[in-house]
Amino acid sequence: MIAHKRPMQAEQIASMTMPIRDRFLADHRRLETLLEQLLAAFEANDREVIAKLWTEFDSGLLAHLEAEETYLIPALFWICERDARVLVQEHRHIRTRLAELGVGIDLHVVRLSAARDFVDELRAHARTEDRLLYARLLDPAGDARLQEPDRASVIAALSAGPRAHAKKSAA
Ligand SMILES: [Fe+2]
Ligand SMILES: [Fe+2]
Repeated sequence: MIAHKRPMQAEQIASMTMPIRDRFLADHRRLETLLEQLLAAFEANDREVIAKLWTEFDSGLLAHLEAEETYLIPALFWICERDARVLVQEHRHIRTRLAELGVGIDLHVVRLSAARDFVDELRAHARTEDRLLYARLLDPAGDARLQEPDRASVIAALSAGPRAHAKKSAA
């Protein structure tokens, strides 16, 4: 059977050439929006929406952390070990919070104040990370230094989304 390739859409081309730093920043915004929508769903006590948003947020955040720990943070250890350790520690804290929130969602006993605190913590982490990690490793020159297939792997890991992550966790 002959596979017919569809012509590439302009937005697909734009998305392929998007700098890696912009991709990570866009992913921060996506996750933050999901968490805010989740808070709204908590307030409305809409369990169906909570379950759907939670799955997307949980797997998206874990994939994001994993992409950074696999492709970016190891390189930061060579530049400044102390800063790399700070980020690793913050990731550990974020995973603990995520697990706590997940338990609360399963038991339908989420404290809204704790969920709001988590939004603030993620924002603070995003600021620290942009300064310590993205600005150093993903400046335009750094982005260009990321060779294929590394660049392709980072993009794939970041945009893996819930399904790819779920598959990986199940393996
Ligand atoms: Fe991070
Ligand atoms: Fe990040």
